[in-house]
Amino acid sequence: MNQLFRKLVRPLMFRLEAETAHDVGMTLLRHGLGGRVPRSIARALFEIPRFSPIDLFGLKFSNPLGMAAGFDKDAKVVNQLASLGFSFVETGTVTPRPQAGNPRPRLFRIPEDEAVINRLGFNNDGARKLVKRISSIERECIVGVNIGKNRDVSLEEAPGDYFEGFATVREIADYVVVNVSSPNTPGLRNLQAIKELERIVDPILKENAVGRRIPILLKIAPDLVSDEFEALADFGVSKGIDGLVLTNTTISRPNQNGVYGEAGGLSGRPLSNLSDAAIQTVFRRVGPKLPIIGVGGISSGHDILRKMRLGASLLQVYTGFIYGGPGFPSLILRDFGRLLDDLGISEISQLTGSDA
Ligand code: FNR
Repeated sequence: MNQLFRKLVRPLMFRLEAETAHDVGMTLLRHGLGGRVPRSIARALFEIPRFSPIDLFGLKFSNPLGMAAGFDKDAKVVNQLASLGFSFVETGTVTPRPQAGNPRPRLFRIPEDEAVINRLGFNNDGARKLVKRISSIERECIVGVNIGKNRDVSLEEAPGDYFEGFATVREIADYVVVNVSSPNTPGLRNLQAIKELERIVDPILKENAVGRRIPILLKIAPDLVSDEFEALADFGVSKGIDGLVLTNTTISRPNQNGVYGEAGGLSGRPLSNLSDAAIQTVFRRVGPKLPIIGVGGISSGHDILRKMRLGASLLQVYTGFIYGGPGFPSLILRDFGRLLDDLGISEISQLTGSDA
C-alpha cells in the first residue's frame, strides 16, 4: 500500500500545486472514507498494533499518535483520519469569525527534505461552523480544537477573541489548544510573552472552572530561547494549564538540501531537532507536572520513541502525512510497536522523559 502511494499516487499529487493537492486529498478522504463500511475497510488495511492506552488529561488515547492542527481546520474528516490510525485529531486553528487567509500560493513543498513552508494565515470557516460539524458526527477518536484570533483583531483585543473561541467550542471539544505560535498572523507570537499570555489564559481558566472542565493546552513556537521555554513551563504549572503542544512551525531556516525561498512557517524533517530541544528543555524544567504533546518532523517509529524519551506523552504529525500518505500512521506506529517489543516495554507511559 505504501509503495503504491509512493510510486503512483504521490508523483501525481506532487504535480499539482501544493494547496490544490491538499484540497484533492481532503476531497478523497472526505468522500472515500465518508461511510462506516469504507472506514472499517481502511481500519483492516491500515492495521494498528495494540498499545497500552495512554491516560492523560482525563482522556484515554488508544495509541500515542494524533493529527496535528491545520490539516483538518474545519473538522471535515475527523472520523476518516481516525480510520487511518490516528487516536486523536486536533481540529482548527479556528477563529471566532470565518476568514479567507493569505493570498495563494501560500503552501510550498520542499521534497528534498520532506519539508513544507506555509503561510496560510488561519483560513477557516469560523468556530460556529466547526461546532456544527463536530456535533453532527459520531466521533471515532478524541477531538481537540485549536483556537486563534481573527487577523483584523488587534493584539490588545486578542484575549476577547480567544475567550469567544473557547466559549464557542468548549461544549464539543475534548480539549482546547490556545495557539499563540503561528507565524502567519502578524504579531501573534508576541502573545507568548507571559504578561500577554496571562491576559488570554486567566479569563479562559476562570470560565473553565464553572461547569464541565476541559483540558486547556498552549501551543508554542520552536523559535524561543531556553529561558523562555522555562518561563512558559513555570507559567503553565503555576496556572494549572493541562499541557503544552511543542512545537508549531519555525520561522528559522535550518537548511538541509532544499531551497527555502518562501516566507512562512517551516515544518517537517528540518524542524525535528528544534522541536526535540523544546520538549527536552520543558521536561527537564517541570517533568510530568506539565504533559507535552510532541510535534515537529516525525517520520518514523524512531522519531516517536526519541520524542517520548525526551519528555513527550503524546505525538502529532502533519508534514510526514503529506509525504507518507494514508498508510503513514499505520507504518510508523507498527515501526514504533516493534521498537517497543525489542526493548521489552509494554507500558508506553514509562518512556516519557526516560532520556531527558
Ligand atoms: C500547520 N500547523 C498549524 N498549527 C496550528 O496550531 N494551527 C494551524 O492552523 C496550523 N496550520 C498548518 C498548516 C500547514 C500546511 C502545516 C504544514 C502546518 C503546524 C502543525 O500543526 C505542526 O505544529 C507543524 O507542522 C510541525 O509538525 P510536522 O508538520 O513537522 O509534523
